[in-house]
Amino acid sequence: MAMQNDMLSKNLLHSQTHIWNHIFSFIKSMSLKCAIQLQIPDIIDRHGSPMLLSELVEALAIKPERTQFVYRLMRILVHTGFFVKQSVSSTRRYEEEEGEGYSLAPPSRLLLKEDPLSIRPFLLTMLDPMLINPWQNMSDWFHSEDVTAFHTTHGGSFWDLAGQEPRLNLLVNDAMASDARLVTSVLLKQGMHVFQGLDSIVDVGGGTGTIAKAIVEAFPAISCICFDLPHVVNGLVGSKNLAYVGGDMFEAIPNANAVLLKWILHDWCDEECIKILKNCKESIPSKQNGGKLVIIDMVVEVDKANYELFESQLFFDMCMMTYVTGRERTEKNWAKLFLDGGFNNYKITPILGARSIIEVYP
Ligand SMILES: C[S@@+](CC[C@H](N)C(=O)[O-])C[C@H]1O[C@@H](n2cnc3c(N)ncnc32)[C@H](O)[C@@H]1O
Repeated sequence: MAMQNDMLSKNLLHSQTHIWNHIFSFIKSMSLKCAIQLQIPDIIDRHGSPMLLSELVEALAIKPERTQFVYRLMRILVHTGFFVKQSVSSTRRYEEEEGEGYSLAPPSRLLLKEDPLSIRPFLLTMLDPMLINPWQNMSDWFHSEDVTAFHTTHGGSFWDLAGQEPRLNLLVNDAMASDARLVTSVLLKQGMHVFQGLDSIVDVGGGTGTIAKAIVEAFPAISCICFDLPHVVNGLVGSKNLAYVGGDMFEAIPNANAVLLKWILHDWCDEECIKILKNCKESIPSKQNGGKLVIIDMVVEVDKANYELFESQLFFDMCMMTYVTGRERTEKNWAKLFLDGGFNNYKITPILGARSIIEVYP
């Protein structure tokens, strides 16, 4: 009986901790956002060796009385894997420093302001109040007729608001460009085969042209159109092989050998995707003549055994539900979509972490 009670208490307390850690999960992202806004990774990186707390506080130009707050912020960021503590020989020590200084853990390198592959803009966009507030309205949204919780919060669609609010437009374009830089760096090493033999490609929803620029640089024989909504591409200047075209993919898509759709179809529901796919089919030649789509998106459960990767896919699926009409899709969902959109077969190459390259043939 005593043992049973002991187990019950243990389970009870374990459940309480489990709930607490989920209630406070937002503290992980908000602490990280704070460190990024304070530019802590950049300061530690510039320092060039493990940085004492007192040195960090001085570099941050924060009053010494606030040292213990910086210590506590850094302690959770060490716990969540963004910084590591390493021993330092110095006499200038705050009493809690224990002779250790802070260095960057690998994920923090990707948050440096000047790192060419930095995903700092993506972090600052996703954690902006405009994108955080809709989560507060999720339960109201379930009972409403609103298309998304984003509509419940902001009174319009994500894309409409990005067209009206220059600040959101800038945030979204910067976030997408940062992701595009990272993905392109892998794509152009591991996924070169996708572009070989093509004369032309249209990057539908190509944002400000990060991927298009990288493609024409890597493959000077390919001409590329970066096609996006007018408010995204207006004023952007192309080059010999790169043209910016403003338009609506639900109306018509410029002609090319191949269509690139990176992080596009997951934004839209199946009916909307079928419209996009049909317009894509109109804009490319037959398979025999080299026509194809190159999709970069998630294939959910490709590697369910990888807990972290699967969790990322679930988070993105919830984002798609909250901000837009889309979803993350399993291979079965994709196969049906391609068939309904008029395509015959596809090939999945899962070489982009939580995302895959999907080549689709008419
Ligand atoms: C999630 S972002 C992806 C941007 C880019 N492909 C990337 O991954 O870096 C979606 C893009 O689709 C564009 N978009 C939204 N609706 C569109 C439409 N009706 N026609 C063309 N582009 C559209 C947005 O402006 C945005 O640039």
